[in-house]
Amino acid sequence: TLSSLEEAKKSAAYRAVDEHFPKNSKVVGIGSGSTVIYAVERIGQRDDVKDVIFVPTGFQSKQLIIENGLRLGCIEEYGVGDLDITFDGADEVDPSLNCIKGGGGCLFQEKLVASCAKKFVLVADYTKQSTALGFKWIQGIPIEVSPLAAKKVESDLFRLGAKSVTWRSGGKSKAGPAVTDNGNFILDTYFGPVEAKDVDALDKAIKLLVGVIETGLFNIADIAYFGGSDGSVTVWNR
Ligand code: A5P
Repeated sequence: TLSSLEEAKKSAAYRAVDEHFPKNSKVVGIGSGSTVIYAVERIGQRDDVKDVIFVPTGFQSKQLIIENGLRLGCIEEYGVGDLDITFDGADEVDPSLNCIKGGGGCLFQEKLVASCAKKFVLVADYTKQSTALGFKWIQGIPIEVSPLAAKKVESDLFRLGAKSVTWRSGGKSKAGPAVTDNGNFILDTYFGPVEAKDVDALDKAIKLLVGVIETGLFNIADIAYFGGSDGSVTVWNR
């Protein structure tokens, strides 16, 4: 049996798929992380997905699509508006639907795939609901950087007001820094709580630094589903 946190993820993901999976869809983006697993499980149960192409956001996501018997595509084929919808998880979401992503290190491909979709739907458990990004400090804002520029970007981030910058480590699985699916490093950066009105400006300032591939700040979600510990689901709309 699932823990209440897993039940929360599952109920949010199932509801989001049931309410938003488009009829006659052609191309659908699939995010990364532990919640999106349930979204793909639910999609795999449908009988109208045989001809739908699913675009992954990283290695884990690709495996998920394959394991659920769905057709795999690749983002290289698509431009803005070419995906009908993307389902993805989040690490922290504010009431304006800004969110932090990248806990799993997949932020660049996640933002790429989300940016190509007509609709971007978040699925998460209740621990991800926040009053302001960085308020709960579930984690800092992950920033994917070229390894060559990691030290340089770290110094830039302090200049921009970061309170802490941590090079994400490979943990037990790899000595030294974690390496993303794109061969880059991740800097986990804490700026303190970021008010919703300031998210865009911070995202742009970080993005402009030479060496930054992508930031984990997203302001492109259309709707967010949060599962509660009691099986309930809360929906936040733009
Ligand atoms: C992956 O890099 C992340 O952006 C995930 O989408 C995010 O961390 C949510 O993951 P969980 O659903 O496992 O919390």
